[in-house]
Amino acid sequence: MFIILIGPPGSGKGTQAKELVDSLGITHFSTGEVLRQAKSQKTPLGEKVAQCIDQGQLVSDELIMELVEDRLAQPDCAEGCLFDGVPRTIAQAESLDQLLQKRGKQIDHVVALEVDQDELMRRMLRRAELEGRADDNEATIRRRFEVYEKETRPLLDYYQGQGKLRTVDGLGTPEEVLQRIREAIGAA
Ligand code: AP5
Ligand code: MG
Repeated sequence: MFIILIGPPGSGKGTQAKELVDSLGITHFSTGEVLRQAKSQKTPLGEKVAQCIDQGQLVSDELIMELVEDRLAQPDCAEGCLFDGVPRTIAQAESLDQLLQKRGKQIDHVVALEVDQDELMRRMLRRAELEGRADDNEATIRRRFEVYEKETRPLLDYYQGQGKLRTVDGLGTPEEVLQRIREAIGAA
């Protein structure tokens, strides 16, 4: 099964992905985590993307789709993958569709997590105290919201048009949200 988790910064994509992949037996692929790891290890990729991620801007579609293509070619993605934080632009969505099509696969469900901005801000400022992620400060969080609205929200219409969009209320405990996602994808 191929699933996309989509939602604004702090909406719970990473939190929910970790639980879902265990029960569905598919691979978790978070572009944000791959990029942050590259940054902390100071690899050439990390050096290239550090400024973008610290400032809350998107990394180029070309670079992201190279990562996706490499990941999809690995055996643990043969029968399924949960995409967390990708695609984020229409161009990424179109090329992901093409990559899967080449393999005779397709996206089964797109789960969109809905959480209001006040709650998102609270969650990320709390995380800033605990984890110190470089992009979790108020000014950068606001930029990430803007980028989401401009570049990523249009994907909801794109997947609605394909009949794949499942909108889920992301407020409540992580367990409550997980149960809603399971119901939305028919895996309750
Ligand atoms: P990315 O890592 O994807 O960050 P993001 O979209 O900003 O989202 P977050 O990871 O901050 O939040 P989340 O939705 O995973 O929520 P979480 O579960 O952590 O991307 C980072 C950067 O990388 C981008 O800005 C860009 O530069 C680059 N990038 C990545 N992908 C890209 C792409 N495809 N194209 C171009 N550039 C790309 O939860 C948030 C917090 O809330 C946590 O502390 C959590 O414990 C807490 N929490 C979770 N659920 C709940 C709940 N139900 N109730 C209360 N608290 C909760
Ligand atoms: Mg995340």
